[in-house]
Amino acid sequence: MKKNLVKPNDHYRKVMVITGANRGIGFEVARTLAKEDISLVLACRNLVEGEKAKEKIEKESGNSQIKVIKLDLSSFSSIRDFCKKFDQSYQRLDVLINNAGIFTMDKGLTQDGLELTMGVNYFGPFLLTNLLLPFLEKSEEGRIVNVISGAYKRGKFNLENIRERNKTGFRAYSASKFALAVFTLTLSRKLKSKGMRVCVNAVSPGHVNSGMWDFNKWYAPIIRFFGKRSMIDVEQGAEPILFLAISEKAKEINGKYFNREKEEEIMFVSTEDQEILWGKSSKIVGLD
Ligand SMILES: NC(=O)c1ccc[n+]([C@@H]2O[C@H](COP(=O)([O-])OP(=O)(O)OC[C@H]3O[C@@H](n4cnc5c(N)ncnc54)[C@H](OP(=O)(O)O)[C@@H]3O)[C@@H](O)[C@H]2O)c1
Repeated sequence: MKKNLVKPNDHYRKVMVITGANRGIGFEVARTLAKEDISLVLACRNLVEGEKAKEKIEKESGNSQIKVIKLDLSSFSSIRDFCKKFDQSYQRLDVLINNAGIFTMDKGLTQDGLELTMGVNYFGPFLLTNLLLPFLEKSEEGRIVNVISGAYKRGKFNLENIRERNKTGFRAYSASKFALAVFTLTLSRKLKSKGMRVCVNAVSPGHVNSGMWDFNKWYAPIIRFFGKRSMIDVEQGAEPILFLAISEKAKEINGKYFNREKEEEIMFVSTEDQEILWGKSSKIVGLD
């Protein structure tokens, strides 16, 4: 029998999933949300680090409704396992925060043979979000927040071959965030046309002093040394994500991009191209 952490008529304790919640901006988002009466799921690829984060957050907030579930966005089977485990404990989902992401100079592949950055930053969240939609549909006011980057505007990928493997660093990163921005646009349009009360938005947290800049290259310390002077801290980076996730003022906002607090339209992509990307992505992640 299902263990009901969320009572069927409890409309007050919202359930929220945050990916990459063990450190960086995701940890800060989870830490702040835990101070509210919210059930939190920390979706982390490393369970030990996830449990450590949970312990810290629990201690500080006194919130006993926090659970860690393993999620590795570079593996479709891990994403499917996550959703099965989520289903065993929760009946609905109110907010999904697709925060986890990587910036790497290394050429690598996901467990399913996709280029690593595109796999973790785009295909993983694409599959996760689609599998969690039935739970979001049960929310009175579902929200999805996709954490992208201002770099998405310079992102390019080939619609004929989105499995392309030869990118690394900024090219791969901006392409993956562009794909996630297009996903935001497409999903928001699809859900609106079905009359579903789930809002989907994208946000850039700004230039944040986090572990994302600790990539393994000789020039990384130089970037960190000069970059950190202009970087904001993780608390500030978390603010626009929290706004879209819980603010009353954000509840009608749908299909938009927030460059920190500034609302913008997502760059234009024709419906035809949106559908091509959606169809190819569905095929790659194994969705009908
Ligand atoms: N920092 C910035 O300046 C900046 C700017 C624009 C956008 N962003 C975006 O903000 C989000 C958060 O970044 P951050 O700055 O907080 O970076 P971070 O400190 O490097 O944290 C990244 C988080 O993502 C998780 N993660 C990485 N690979 C994963 C995988 N395969 N499966 C599941 N989780 C995975 C990490 O888990 P592990 O601890 O296991 O590695 C970690 O929890 C990212 O999407 C990033 O692209 C950041």
